Amino acid sequence: MASRLVCLCNFVDEKEILSALKKGANSTTSIQQITGAGTSCGRCLPVIDEIVNAYLKEKPKDQQTTLNLG
Ligand code: FES
Repeated sequence: MASRLVCLCNFVDEKEILSALKKGANSTTSIQQITGAGTSCGRCLPVIDEIVNAYLKEKPKDQQTTLNLG
């Protein structure tokens, strides 16, 4: 399945943003630095924020599950 294109200016899709998050990016600024998304017109920044926030919100739950099982 094709990934949603998030940043039209720099041709960055959601898959690339999620991949950067999995590698340790933890803010919209770090996504900008790693992928280049949101560094031109900035129109995609709210969408990047949304993806980052959704990812970070779910992450602690995963860690907690791991801790409870450990
Ligand atoms: S659409 Fe992302 S910087 Fe323009």
